[in-house]
Amino acid sequence: MTQDELKQQAALRALDYVIDGSIVGVGTGSTANFFIDGLAGMKDRIVGAVASSEVSARRLASHGIRLFDMNDVDDIPVYVDGADEINGGLAMIKGGGGAQTREKIVAAVARKFVCICDASKRVERLGRFPLPVEVIPMARAQVARELARLGGRPVLREGFITDNGNLILDVHGLSITDPAALEATIDGIVGVVTNGLFAKRGADVLLLATPGGVQTFER
Ligand code: A5P
Repeated sequence: MTQDELKQQAALRALDYVIDGSIVGVGTGSTANFFIDGLAGMKDRIVGAVASSEVSARRLASHGIRLFDMNDVDDIPVYVDGADEINGGLAMIKGGGGAQTREKIVAAVARKFVCICDASKRVERLGRFPLPVEVIPMARAQVARELARLGGRPVLREGFITDNGNLILDVHGLSITDPAALEATIDGIVGVVTNGLFAKRGADVLLLATPGGVQTFER
């Protein structure tokens, strides 16, 4: 079974969590794309969706799924999104696609975060995947110095601008023993918009696709 087939299996399983008559929170990335395509098959049962990126918004719209602005929505029963890494406590690194800020906003409103992954994303300790940090452009150098003081090696994501008009520093080599503490520390650096650690608000459900089937973990 290919990695894409595993991603699709996890994504389609997440359709079981969608609540009829609701607005669905929709993430970003290749796994989320499979979810969007599956959601199209049940679009008449939902009110619409909130997207965590412009690219997901376009894909949802292409399926005729009604889009809502985050500011017009106060209840999102379920948010479905992928991750770059996820640990046993369902804390994650996200932002491989540079969308973590909007992902965090949608996740903050959502009552349930359903993470969809193939088995390669499950790790014992977060940090092999470089941690994406969204940065206000004029603060890039200063934030990079602060991240280096924390033991990381920040690398500017060349030629990439976020949906919010900012930059991404991908931080290599961090030793992430306490994801929630590091998330708060990095968010406290002036000029940081958000970082890709989702520990304070981790996933509630993990649907992990393995060659033997989709495994469900809840916390
Ligand atoms: C987007 O910014 C990310 O948070 C994605 O959710 C993450 O990178 C997972 O992407 P894939 O599903 O493409 O692996």
